[in-house]
Amino acid sequence: MTRSLARAHIGAKQLVALLGEWEVGDAVYSALAARIALLLDDGRIATYTRLPAERELADALGRSRTTVVAAYRALRDSGHLISVRGSGSVAVLPTSPTATSGTEVDFARAVPPPVPGLSDVLSRAGDAATTILAHPGFDLVGERHLREQIAERYCALGAPTSAEQIMITVGAQHAIALVSRTVLRHRDNVVVEAPTYPHAYEAVLTAGGRLASTPVSNLGWDGEHLVSIVTRMRPQLAYLIPDFHNPTGATMPEAVRERVLDAARRSGTLLLVDETTADLDIDRPSAPPSFACLAGRHSAGTVVSVGSLSKTIWGGLRIGWVRADPVLLSRLVGARPAGDLGTSVLDQTVAADVLSNYDGFLAHRRALLRDRRDLLTDLLRTQLPDWDIPVVRGGLSLWVGLRAPISSALAQAAQRRGVRITAGTKFGTDGTHERFIRVPFTGDPDRIRRGVGILRDTWDSLLPLAGAAAHHRLPPTL
Ligand SMILES: Cc1ncc(COP(=O)(O)O)c(C=O)c1O
Repeated sequence: MTRSLARAHIGAKQLVALLGEWEVGDAVYSALAARIALLLDDGRIATYTRLPAERELADALGRSRTTVVAAYRALRDSGHLISVRGSGSVAVLPTSPTATSGTEVDFARAVPPPVPGLSDVLSRAGDAATTILAHPGFDLVGERHLREQIAERYCALGAPTSAEQIMITVGAQHAIALVSRTVLRHRDNVVVEAPTYPHAYEAVLTAGGRLASTPVSNLGWDGEHLVSIVTRMRPQLAYLIPDFHNPTGATMPEAVRERVLDAARRSGTLLLVDETTADLDIDRPSAPPSFACLAGRHSAGTVVSVGSLSKTIWGGLRIGWVRADPVLLSRLVGARPAGDLGTSVLDQTVAADVLSNYDGFLAHRRALLRDRRDLLTDLLRTQLPDWDIPVVRGGLSLWVGLRAPISSALAQAAQRRGVRITAGTKFGTDGTHERFIRVPFTGDPDRIRRGVGILRDTWDSLLPLAGAAAHHRLPPTL
């Protein structure tokens, strides 16, 4: 007997409830397919979920079976559905990025271009080929010189750090996943922000953690809630993005950091502090001390920090790091080979060169982000005056309030016009944030202009839907 592919099942009524306002523009079958794909993409339908039989769903929707058959066929064609004898129609994520074909503007990813001067660094790495090739080519902890450089940056920011506390990883995502699977046991509680960076909570879930969330908005954290949930629940881990939080851009004030650190120390909670976006400061009036800095020696074991060069330098440079106390660090090194065998020495050589002039590169990065943030903010304020456009002082994106719960419909309709954008729901763990959309300012200015124009036209086409959702309308979100 073959094992069923499906790991879960969703009933027709449950699916209809999740679909929400799905009839956007298109032929009915393709609107249905697009919405199911979106639910799958943002995690509201888990991969390997068996969808209802066509007739069942047709009855629940009050539509013809032909419509559902056509929608399922479209999902099969786009790689979102596989039909296996004995397992029914099972939802999966496509293995090839077919969804990007026909995309004119990609607002789905917040990926800045390579920083100017990087090609010179790459050429120098080429010149050092003989030395690099004399090395096995990868290692678990990281090159000593690079670890020292990273430790020095922490020291300069007031957090005494030695190379023994630093491990080089394959980007920050790897670091988050490695920490999660090393410290978590099945069904351990983990606090995450809502909204948050989606791949982090995915890593926590994969490691067996159970999520509890604490709210963040463009105005920042609800400090009371965060402290109280850490105190009451005593979670094993709390994952936080305190500087230029993704997606809101908010910065956690020092007083909140102090209280969270204190609550975590008392509760035995490890704070996993993601500083991937921390250096993307555009015009923040002042930078609060980092968690590593506040923890000092006294509570060093309470904080593990994660950093990366992917946003400041280039996403193709797969270099991140973990700063942890030496005991946790050695556990991470021990756990690592089960997932990967080390970071490329070629990437590490490039990173070490970059770090020797990091402040120079950061100045370029900040100038670019400033121009593009200003451009996007102006365009959205002028062309989409119904939306709540926040002021952000750094980071990569704007967390825009739509004042109506139609972010999935907007994403779906924009995709048809050539703009990929991620619905707000992707950034929550339970389908919330339907009133928000994340708009990155990382693309080139012409694309940003074009993208906002298309979003405006798409929004105009959705006005009847926004009107229908008017009874859900809330006051401005800023
Ligand atoms: C907050 C946050 N953490 C981690 C990552 C992953 O970074 P990396 O590319 O270094 O793996 C991202 C990427 O978008 C991010 O926004």
